[in-house]
Amino acid sequence: MDEIKKRIDYLREIINKANYEYYVLDNPTITDQEFDKYLRELEVLEKNHPEFDSPSSPTKRVGGEVIDKFKKIKHVLPMLSLPDVFDINEIEEFNNRVVKEGVEPTYVCEYKIDGLSVSLHYEKGHLIYGATRGDGIVGEDITHNVKTIKSIPLELKKPIDIEVRGEIYMPKKVLAELNKEREEKNLPLLQNVRNAAAGSIRQLDSKIAAERKLSSFIYHLPNPQDYGIKTHSEALDFMESLGFKVNVKANRVVKGIKEIEDYIEEITAQRDELDYEIDGVVIKVNSLESQQVLGFTSKYPRWAIAYKFPAKEVLTKLQDIVFTVGRTGRITPNAVLDPVIVMGSMVKRATLHNEDYVRMKDLKIGDIVSIRKAGDVIPEVVEAKKERRTGEEKEFTMITNCPICGEVLIKKEGQVDHYCPNILCPARSVEGLIHFCSRKAMNIDGLGEEIIEDFYNLGFIKTIPDIYSLGDYRTDLIELEGYGNKSVDNLLSAIEVSKSNSFERVLFGLGIPGIGDKTALMLAKTFKNVDNMIKANYEDYLNIMDIGPTLAQNLYDFFQNEEKLELIKQLKEIGINMTFLGEEGKYDYRISGKKFVLTGTLDFMGRDELSRILEDYGATTSGSVSKKTDVVIVGENPGSKYDKARELGIEIWDEKQIKEIIDSLED
Ligand code: IVH
Repeated sequence: MDEIKKRIDYLREIINKANYEYYVLDNPTITDQEFDKYLRELEVLEKNHPEFDSPSSPTKRVGGEVIDKFKKIKHVLPMLSLPDVFDINEIEEFNNRVVKEGVEPTYVCEYKIDGLSVSLHYEKGHLIYGATRGDGIVGEDITHNVKTIKSIPLELKKPIDIEVRGEIYMPKKVLAELNKEREEKNLPLLQNVRNAAAGSIRQLDSKIAAERKLSSFIYHLPNPQDYGIKTHSEALDFMESLGFKVNVKANRVVKGIKEIEDYIEEITAQRDELDYEIDGVVIKVNSLESQQVLGFTSKYPRWAIAYKFPAKEVLTKLQDIVFTVGRTGRITPNAVLDPVIVMGSMVKRATLHNEDYVRMKDLKIGDIVSIRKAGDVIPEVVEAKKERRTGEEKEFTMITNCPICGEVLIKKEGQVDHYCPNILCPARSVEGLIHFCSRKAMNIDGLGEEIIEDFYNLGFIKTIPDIYSLGDYRTDLIELEGYGNKSVDNLLSAIEVSKSNSFERVLFGLGIPGIGDKTALMLAKTFKNVDNMIKANYEDYLNIMDIGPTLAQNLYDFFQNEEKLELIKQLKEIGINMTFLGEEGKYDYRISGKKFVLTGTLDFMGRDELSRILEDYGATTSGSVSKKTDVVIVGENPGSKYDKARELGIEIWDEKQIKEIIDSLED
């Protein structure tokens, strides 16, 4: 037996080493054939000897683990992003702020990798879980997919507890190959490396992520003090020494603004030759003590910035200008373009905002125009190339009637936008319904844009309350193409479930002008329920941080409007929850889903209070120990439950352990 275990250990070691050399050092020392031979031998041995199974075995990297949904994970420390800057003046301003605080202007310049950020947690050197950034506070558990990324070690070179953060990315070559295959199969092309990487990591089946050949760079150590580390560059070296892929070739310690400029100039020239996409340069104060002096704003660290490369411009033809009607009735002119790839993704349309915007740019239909991605995401028409006009171009004319219902458009004094004033205009209603059901609002699975449009045209749903009477059309629905009993049941139950959403979702879904999902959450937390919002006056809104006069007026007007109050009344009658239910998505891998028994006296909090917190995180608590118990928490004078737990070999935590966990949650 010992011989087998030894062989297994030996094979794991060579395979791990080979993976490390290939994927981290980019310097393989064995052939693919040799590698496959070792891996197959290990697979056979592990299959025949499950007693030697290990979650950190390199055989666990091939993928195959399938999960049924993504669990939420609360980050131990928030995962912040960085403020973007776009030119050298803004970098100088950053440097001046640093110097003004009395901090030495020594920085680490790094590539800004175009992918998605990840947090990786290791205990005693073993990978325990990996999570996406999510909203920065709560991310999603993507451990099953992380394990398939060969440059992320399953086992570190030292048996320590650590969290590191970095970027998961898709190499350019991989995207090109994938898109070639997809083109042959007539599948829609993946738009760019970032979306492709994010899409791969958000797969329930880890086989898909494994096929996508993702890679990683690690660039952040959230708790450097735990390892006696004094500078960011030391932190990078330390993480490299543990076996992580750190971008050593690119990272550079620089002093002062001139050296930052030189770095950016060099990198800009080399950027296209890299086998991964970068979209800028990250500049971080090197001394960790200085980082502490600089601290954080509410959103960002004040010791780092991300310089974004200027957007690349591409030329194409403006085929037409078409008009769309939004849910407030606002009319938007849109450029219809000859499809072009801009920074890796296909652009066919771009918003032209309003009539004045089109006139200011003097756009004519048929013009050759330059396109760029504003903030790298939203396509923007920069200008018409007037020197390329042939005389065939057509003048732009603003419409006078709504393209959907024909109503004469209005334009309020002093405003740039045209509106369709018909509140029954189908375009307005459909857009409003789509918004109400959307992911960040009521999140009704199965009521996407096209389906809502179909149901609207079929007369099933004309107003928001109609959504909740869709069951009346059950027999009609079952007969529709693509529907059956089961999918109709699923849809109706998704609608039913949405009734118990927390208030912020309804509030956002109501589509109050200027109120996005984040503001809706803040308002729901502040006012707790809809009745308090109806009672509030203009000043009450204005007194809230981040709410300026326009939003305060919009809110006040909305909750004074007869029709809106009638709608709210109907929604209440339907049984839609209008109360804030508290923060969503509480999850912690150490607690959630486990069965706990609490025994003995705890000093730091009462047993009832602790039970409530555990239950909030999706754990269950019980009064007696059985084989099904996962953990027994033991205070002073524990009694027989403690003995029983020991007898059954159940995990036991003392007060210190549970306190540490609870403290980390409360952060
Ligand atoms: S440092 C607190 N370093 O860019 C420090 N971020 O807006 C957090 N990124 O969310 C990040 N390359 O996804 C850092 N070398 C790098 C990076 C990097 C890419 C991403 C990351 C982050 C965003 C910053």
